[in-house]
Amino acid sequence: MSSPDPHRVSAQPAAYRPSPDGILQLGFGFMSAKVLLSAVELGVFTKLARSPMDREELVQQLGLHPRSARDFLDALVALGMLERQGAAYRNTSEADFFLDRAKPSYVGGLIEMINARLYGFWGSLTEALRTGKPQNETKTGGGAFQALYRDPQRLRSFLQAMTCLSINSANDMAAQFPWQNFQTFADAGGAQGGVAVQIALAHPHLRGCVFDLAPVKPLCEEHIASFGLAGRLRFVTGNFFHDPLPQADVIILGHVLHDWNLEEKRRLISKAYEALPAGGALLAVDAIIDDERRFHVPGLLISLNMLIETAGGFDYTGADGCAWMREAGFREARVERLAGPDSMIVAIK
Ligand SMILES: C[S@@+](CC[C@H](N)C(=O)[O-])C[C@H]1O[C@@H](n2cnc3c(N)ncnc32)[C@H](O)[C@@H]1O
Repeated sequence: MSSPDPHRVSAQPAAYRPSPDGILQLGFGFMSAKVLLSAVELGVFTKLARSPMDREELVQQLGLHPRSARDFLDALVALGMLERQGAAYRNTSEADFFLDRAKPSYVGGLIEMINARLYGFWGSLTEALRTGKPQNETKTGGGAFQALYRDPQRLRSFLQAMTCLSINSANDMAAQFPWQNFQTFADAGGAQGGVAVQIALAHPHLRGCVFDLAPVKPLCEEHIASFGLAGRLRFVTGNFFHDPLPQADVIILGHVLHDWNLEEKRRLISKAYEALPAGGALLAVDAIIDDERRFHVPGLLISLNMLIETAGGFDYTGADGCAWMREAGFREARVERLAGPDSMIVAIK
């Protein structure tokens, strides 16, 4: 078929008429995202987890102006986040499980971080693409993590967001990797300890540590203690560019490699190699991009997010990651799919 005449689109037979629907849906996509982000910010799902409510009650409980409350709540129904029966709104089962702040399964910490930080920063994507410069707190000076960690509230919510981000892939890591063959692990850049806790809970014979920057220590220790794991998991303060990584049978780099440029990625992989015994394993988790760089939309978008967030970070394909591991001396490296957008490279020394 020849290309449609752009001046006479409506004159085309219906079967050949091009539709802009897909393009416009993509362009308007930010509106759906922001409705969800604001609903989490306002605590809609946490309130409705206690009991279904009608619009008047929600307006009062959430402090909404009545003008657009109906549209807001019905948009959440249409987006599949709420159900409406008669006048009463209630959470869908998914929203109730993952978006009620009172439940341990809450992933809203990540949504809160997206709302408070990334939503605004992504408004400067064009500037980032033109300049190659990050568009986050670093615009006002300092490295990405230093800037984030200056504000205790931002630090806490960032670390909670990391736990939300990683909890599902941590469960898959715990289930898929042959942990019975290993005794110790170190999660380098392990943040609040969300991944370490899931692995330790699933495998009672393991002992491990979370290695991260000093400001993370109290919040990580609090998280570990809340699961009664202080006897088996400890926090090690350090900077993975200045200090050696703790020695362990398995080293995890979860959502760490993508924060850094290629030279820094290689340094971290070499440090992990040095800290492992022969037969030890490096598990590198990221939203690893498909080798053809055509299909894995989350991996490509998260890589753009590294442009927004970091000085030189980027996501990578499984083939690239495995090649870096082999160049560092690992005798084998393979990619395994995990939950959500993540995969892990398993590299054996
Ligand atoms: C994107 S988060 C990943 C958190 C966690 N591994 C996960 O998958 O959820 C990166 C982590 O690396 C830590 N980090 C950044 N620079 C570091 C450094 N130089 N030394 C040690 N940890 C660092 C940060 O504090 C943060 O906890």
